[in-house]
Amino acid sequence: MSKLWGGRFTKKTDQLVEEYTASIMFDKELAEEDIEGSLAHVTMLGKQGILPVEDVETIKAGLQRVLERVKAGDIEFTIGDEDIHMNIEKALIDDVGSVGGKLHTGRSRNDQVATDMHLWLRKRVVEFVDMLYKLQSALIEQAKANADTILPGYTHLQRAQPILFAHHMMAYVSMFGRDIERLQDSYKRINVLPLGAGALAGTTFPIDRHFVASQLKFDRVYENSLDAVSDRDFILEFLSHASIIMMHLSRLSEELIMWSSTEFNFVELDDAFCTGSSIMPQKKNPDVPELVRGKTGRVYGNLMGLFTVLKSLPLAYNKDMQEDKEGMFDTVKTMQGALQLFAPMVATMKVNKDRMRQAVNQDFSNATDIADFLVGKGMPFRQAHEVIGKTVLYCIQQNKYLLDLTLDEFKQFSELFDDRIYDVLQPEQVVNARNVYGGTAKPQVLEAIARAESAAEATAAWVIEYTERSN
Ligand code: ARG
Repeated sequence: MSKLWGGRFTKKTDQLVEEYTASIMFDKELAEEDIEGSLAHVTMLGKQGILPVEDVETIKAGLQRVLERVKAGDIEFTIGDEDIHMNIEKALIDDVGSVGGKLHTGRSRNDQVATDMHLWLRKRVVEFVDMLYKLQSALIEQAKANADTILPGYTHLQRAQPILFAHHMMAYVSMFGRDIERLQDSYKRINVLPLGAGALAGTTFPIDRHFVASQLKFDRVYENSLDAVSDRDFILEFLSHASIIMMHLSRLSEELIMWSSTEFNFVELDDAFCTGSSIMPQKKNPDVPELVRGKTGRVYGNLMGLFTVLKSLPLAYNKDMQEDKEGMFDTVKTMQGALQLFAPMVATMKVNKDRMRQAVNQDFSNATDIADFLVGKGMPFRQAHEVIGKTVLYCIQQNKYLLDLTLDEFKQFSELFDDRIYDVLQPEQVVNARNVYGGTAKPQVLEAIARAESAAEATAAWVIEYTERSN
């Protein structure tokens, strides 16, 4: 059979053009959503009396059979039929005969492809919220198991102040919590129906867009037909949220890589998540976090790619927009791969509490606290800073830490010191002194964990509700 749009043409399409313009190689990913959309469309055509009921029933039964074949992988898609929409339509016509040609009444591939993408992406967004929820749960478990584990906190990658390892884990729980919120919010803009916009201007048939929307569980329909077929903001938004998620994963990856080094030795990733070297027998490499860090680059690239495709595109549909798909598919696959591994990798990671403690005992991360002690005695903070700076310099020259100094040594720097400073300098004391909302003191961290757990419960409920809504 010739092309579905062949009437106006007298010559055959050049073979290379056919290959160059086809999208079936990648948009076959949308097959199920394409059929889902067609079923709702044709049901509406029947309800509105645009097609006779018998034709509608024939077409629906045919689409169901095509769907089964798609699921079983026994449809051979061809480049000659260009894209998923025409491949499915062709398969339908092969199945039910020429009545299948009535399906495309009052519809264009422009509003059709947009609808497919909305349907496809909303499912993925719910799955990603679920994956982020699982990662948060793994981080929360590590936090609970390490509510007394103290390690140096860093700024400029220099030891700054001691913190609870639980507090560090909970920072990532907050980050992924924002990611979850962003995805949940974006659902509002994904869950809007373009179908009914036609090619760009609407259609002459008396269709019922709101009926199609409710069949497909869309909350709204696009207000403007030109916008409906031209809008790819929802994909950009997703790619942008994905970039932020990958950035968060990449920062955590970097820390895991660093912490796994002999120099830090703060954590050990489970053997199941590491690989070896083909030459150096002693090596255990953190390949998973390294690859996640590396693959973050392609996710950013996909975002920039689509921004650039859309820049300067006049309304309405332009073939350029076919370029919206591969980047989106790639980002979804890349992020699925990363998140799928991250939750179990975090859950099975061994935390080297003793080594962290040893690090805290051998640093000056308690210096702020004796400065604060002097402030408590009435010394202006700026002056206290100077005094402690000199004390630390003395320690470095003497090869000592603050807790090694005698009270007499302390008193050389200020008469205000007394023997209570030995308590003030203890890492537990230093940590627990930061007892402000959101701080690292143990009671604060335990409350943060409790709040995160109830937020996670709400996320789990959201996932159940929205899985239902998007299927
Ligand atoms: N394969 C096309 C795409 O992905 C579908 C829409 C084609 N529309 C058209 N007028 N050629 O963008």
